[in-house]
Amino acid sequence: MLTLNVLDQNEIAPESLVRQSLEQHAALLERCKQGQARYEDSLGWLCVDEWAGEKQLAKAEQLAASIRKTAEVFVIIGVGGSNNAARAVIEAIRPANGVEIVYAGNTLSAYALNDMLKTLDGKEVYINCIAKNFETLEPGTSFRVLRQYLVRRYGKEKAAKRILCTGTQGSSLERLCVREGYAFIQFPGNIGGRFTALSYVHLVPMAVAGIDIGALTKGALEMERTLKAQPAQDNLALRYAVLRNLYFQKGYKVELLSAFEPRLAWFFKWWEQLFAESEGKDAQGLLPITGEYTEQLHSLGQFVQDGTHLMFETFLDVKERGENDSLILGGTDVDDGFDYLDGKDFWEINKASFDATREAHSQVMPCLTLEVGALDAYHYGQLFYFFAFACYLSGEILGVNPFDQPGVEAYKNRLFAALGK
Ligand code: PA5
Repeated sequence: MLTLNVLDQNEIAPESLVRQSLEQHAALLERCKQGQARYEDSLGWLCVDEWAGEKQLAKAEQLAASIRKTAEVFVIIGVGGSNNAARAVIEAIRPANGVEIVYAGNTLSAYALNDMLKTLDGKEVYINCIAKNFETLEPGTSFRVLRQYLVRRYGKEKAAKRILCTGTQGSSLERLCVREGYAFIQFPGNIGGRFTALSYVHLVPMAVAGIDIGALTKGALEMERTLKAQPAQDNLALRYAVLRNLYFQKGYKVELLSAFEPRLAWFFKWWEQLFAESEGKDAQGLLPITGEYTEQLHSLGQFVQDGTHLMFETFLDVKERGENDSLILGGTDVDDGFDYLDGKDFWEINKASFDATREAHSQVMPCLTLEVGALDAYHYGQLFYFFAFACYLSGEILGVNPFDQPGVEAYKNRLFAALGK
């Protein structure tokens, strides 16, 4: 299970205040465990079993197995909540010998699209267009480009057999699939994109990539049970949500999520989207930013230690090493000034760097540490559910609707008008 430690040397939110706030939000926690009626159309993720039960897992596995039989490349077309969760897991823990995964539908850059198409030539290609409302420009246009590419290579009829779409029932995407003979699976109607990690939206592409979606779901389910059983004073997600909001009230307007493992880069994108779209509204909300350490200790690190005091930091610390997580620095007869590291393991050096960084940063800001057991499918499941539930609680404490994103309409309306929609 995840654990949460706090280093708050300047007593920005002393434990007595945290306990008081936990008590104050005990009733809210119980309401959120049940799911509030006003968010009925957004809470399909709250019970993992609803969209990632045995039946759905079996169907996702079956679909993935049939694609894996022939596919050498699988293109995931989707943006934001229709892309980030699958990509977070695939990019971090995908087995090396699985189907190659390529991403599209997340850009309008001609350069990027041309580059993406070049990776497909000469390989057996399958595509999965994931779009909740099928109006978003990036996936809509990429889907057309890739359909045309497949038709050029395989002919219309054979191309159709290589196309899988994930969309809401009754959507224009479903109608298109019926007309053209593409396979179609359901995007949950009662979950917004960024909360769909545990549904066909992400489970199918993850399974195609060879991820153990059974383990992922198990991790999420265990996290759900734990968080729903824990009372307010012991509830990990409520504690995290309360701390975020206390720091926010005390003037810390930015949360920096950092880790010493570059494989978490796409998980960071998922986390940023989750909190930015859920809380950044009504002129409120913590700005979520991320730090890829140790690299960004040499850039962002200066600001974190010495710049304007506007952030607190949450370290994501991985406890157990995986099989690729050891590398001993061998000795050398060349005097390069690094002899003091002879025989040391990079895992230990990296951990020493984490300890030193947390110690330094905690002099100037509150530092939280979320310890996660390991980087595997099971623990990704835990992380997805933990942060989704914490985000729900945190948005409620802040007083915003965590499930809408009215702000993104402003640019979209202007763009649609400019392009003549
Ligand atoms: O969380 C959300 O709802 C959004 O970020 C969506 O996932 C994103 O805008 C993509 O939406 P769609 O799949 O409908 O194109």
